[in-house]
Amino acid sequence: MQVFKGDILIYNDNPGANISESSYSFYEDGLLLTEKDKILYAGSAKNIPFPINDLPITSFTGKIITAGFVDTHIHYPQINMIASFGEQLLEWLERYAFPAEKKFKDSSYAKIMADEFLKELHRNGTTTALVFSTVHKSSADALFTEAQKHNMALLTGKVLMDRNAPEWLTDTPETSYNDSKALIEKWHKVDRLRYAVTPRFAITSSPEQLELAGRLLKEHTDVYMQTHLSENKKEIESVARLFPDSLGYLDVYDRMGLATDHSVFAHCVHLTDDEYTVMKARNSAIAFCPCSNMFLGSGLFNLNKARKHDVKMGLGTDVGGGNSFSILQNLNEAYKVAQLRSQKLHPIQAFYYATLGGAQALNLEHQIGTLKKDYYADFIVLDPGATDLMRLRLKNASTLTDKLFILMMMGDDRCVEAAYIAGRKVK
Ligand code: GUN
Ligand code: ZN
Repeated sequence: MQVFKGDILIYNDNPGANISESSYSFYEDGLLLTEKDKILYAGSAKNIPFPINDLPITSFTGKIITAGFVDTHIHYPQINMIASFGEQLLEWLERYAFPAEKKFKDSSYAKIMADEFLKELHRNGTTTALVFSTVHKSSADALFTEAQKHNMALLTGKVLMDRNAPEWLTDTPETSYNDSKALIEKWHKVDRLRYAVTPRFAITSSPEQLELAGRLLKEHTDVYMQTHLSENKKEIESVARLFPDSLGYLDVYDRMGLATDHSVFAHCVHLTDDEYTVMKARNSAIAFCPCSNMFLGSGLFNLNKARKHDVKMGLGTDVGGGNSFSILQNLNEAYKVAQLRSQKLHPIQAFYYATLGGAQALNLEHQIGTLKKDYYADFIVLDPGATDLMRLRLKNASTLTDKLFILMMMGDDRCVEAAYIAGRKVK
């Protein structure tokens, strides 16, 4: 058993924009008890169900202990072209993303990058991620192999792309089906790993390939699906030209059976009300990627519309379209995106999206995303006074809301004092 002391933040549900009191609990000087990979107890230091007299206590006094961050959209092969200058989505893909992904044909290179990638996630307090690999089957193999070593809940898949991309980065409908199927059989539900069928986006997949992706989901009902949707205006126009019979962008995926309760659609910046209605009906999820949407100039996500339609939603860093691995930095940008639309993102709801909201988007909310008995011991320790300026600012702050807001507006990886995955320290 391990015993941790600190200010414990527990989510029960979505607080909503008006912050329902029952949606979360906060225990100052509380306790977290873990045994092996699971949580035994999280809450008040009084009434603990086990005697802990003789056990050493790891104290994080004045620090917030919360569930680890969940990143619902990120590209591991883009780790070393993050922050590439000057382009918007379609040109940025051609100029930076595709050449970076080409190198993952080499599986020893992929292994090195997978290791760097996971280290960077952990340094930023991200304990679960839904990740794009590349078109190469071995790139997904490499990431699964490294994640398994950390007993981490990680989801990824080989990218499907058979047109409108350089020839050296494309597959075919048949090879994409066969490779994905082999990866599902090898990795899906092995330890904490999960497979996600990963068509890159409608522009780079033929109708035949999307149809076979839909077949994979029918053949494996609890396998995930991840793709991009309605990110950039030029992208949306191109999809309309490529699929003239579709009712809209989401419909391209939906009519192929790709919008399920295990589907995560990244961006959704320009989604129509009708598309939101379909998204809700299918119980699919959105990955809101504020850093990326600002960095690539894609547009301002409409948070109130997502709230109104009550769609499952988590945060995505979208590295390397996004310029930071930090979920805190993404909350910073999310707040500003909301401000530019005269909307509000309250810190209590922001941290919900970063943890339990993300877990719900991945259908993992009964295992991760909050601190409760029998959940995995995936948790982080956040220091709201990690820098001199933050410590000064904290002198004018006392409530949980104040501390969380300081963390999200001023914080980054420096505020992540420790991170644990399945009870083991990874930072
Ligand atoms: N749309 C298709 N591919 C990509 C990608 O790699 N990054 C982002 N942000 N959008 C995409
Ligand atoms: Zn992306």
